[in-house]
Amino acid sequence: MSSKFVIKGGNRLTGKVKIGGAKNSALKLMAAALLTEEPTTLTNVPIITDVTIMAAVLERLGVVVSYSGPDTVDIKPGNSLYAEAPYELVSQMRASIIVLGPLLARLGRARVAMPGGCNIGSRKIDMHIRGLEALGARIEVGHGFIEAVSEKLAGSKIALDYPSVGATENLLMAATLAKGVTTIDNVAREPEIVDLANFLNKMGAKIEGAGTPTMRIEGVGSLHGVEYAVMPDRIEAGTLLVAGAITGGDVVIKDAIPKHLELVISKLKNTGATVTISGNKEIRVKGGSEINPIDIATLPYPGFPTDLQTQFMALLSIAHGTSIITENIFENRFMFVNELNRMGSDIRTEGRHAIIKGISKLMGAPVTAPDLRGGAALAVAGLAAEGVTEVLDVYHIDRGYQNFEHKLKAIGADIERIGEKEPSNALKVVGNR
Ligand code: EPZ
Repeated sequence: MSSKFVIKGGNRLTGKVKIGGAKNSALKLMAAALLTEEPTTLTNVPIITDVTIMAAVLERLGVVVSYSGPDTVDIKPGNSLYAEAPYELVSQMRASIIVLGPLLARLGRARVAMPGGCNIGSRKIDMHIRGLEALGARIEVGHGFIEAVSEKLAGSKIALDYPSVGATENLLMAATLAKGVTTIDNVAREPEIVDLANFLNKMGAKIEGAGTPTMRIEGVGSLHGVEYAVMPDRIEAGTLLVAGAITGGDVVIKDAIPKHLELVISKLKNTGATVTISGNKEIRVKGGSEINPIDIATLPYPGFPTDLQTQFMALLSIAHGTSIITENIFENRFMFVNELNRMGSDIRTEGRHAIIKGISKLMGAPVTAPDLRGGAALAVAGLAAEGVTEVLDVYHIDRGYQNFEHKLKAIGADIERIGEKEPSNALKVVGNR
């Protein structure tokens, strides 16, 4: 039985809380470590289920992965890699597809299970495949696997149909060891892309334009191992900012990078919260006396992040008016609406739009986390609800948040985990290689 959170709502959150390393950067840096046979050390790595699964994927590829500190991961690829990422691991975490580019660049071949969809959408990878073919790979998809081979990747001019984060990352990593120059137009500009480019350049890659719509990569012969600190997690920061606002609290977020959250902070202010920035790594949020309704449309960075859509929907569910949230990135990211409506919210969805009619107070209720961010949003809603909320299936939340309940409790939340945190069964899989 998965553990659950029991939350007694009504406490104002107050105090300081530190942000951990970014899940959506750490996973890619771990994959990028495959691009060299030399050892790499990553610090500020969040100890979360998805990192455990990525470590298991790397170990199945023949890499030695060890933890040399509470947030430090040592990766030793060595000079003999396996080329196959197995279904039983890739199906647990679709982000495993990110080993495709590095394996192809290092070995000239890769066999990666098709990630398949997940709760929030189909999660296609056509742009990954088309881009790698443009770099000279021959790719076949069949029997649930992607088979890619290439004697030597060659630089090319690529234009993405859409600024896909994963496709940008796979192509960026493959291009670092390709022969010649690669330009990629219409790339993703997320801070995690910049973090990956900084990491690769520190390894000896020649990448320009990270964070802009066009990137230029000059292929090099080899890359070397480095030590690197993962950037702070802007989505964890945004989640905790909303927790402070929804409870009418006064919370200081430490070690975040405000620049990564410019539009999120602006939207939070529009809802009536007071948000101030001190130094370059502290954001303070004070909840307003009431919450104003606003409209939000999720877009690729620097637009509003889809990964904070559900948390803002929880906040707007108790605004004094009607808000509209439009989800443009994933086709099925309103799954948590039904659960939130069980807490009394008045939300209906029409295609990509959610119409949120604010109510005065949410009521505590037993709810089930449908996915990572929907689960976090239900816990945030429970903080402000009247009475007790039980959030079941919190293993979803453990995928992307380290010590979620401890951080909330440290700033005044009445939250307990009942039941043991599930160990990722990825470790068992590694056991029976
Ligand atoms: C990354 O997913 C993040 N995951 C997601 O965070 C995040 O929501 C997303 O980027 C957008 O910011 C990780 O970094 C591990 P995409 P990714 O490729 O790379 C379609 C979280 O909660 N698409 O930009 O999969 C795709 O179907 C997670 O932490 C294609 O059609 O995002 C989706 O609808 C959730 N063809 C949209 O683009 C392709 O070849 C965005 O996908 C690739 C993508």
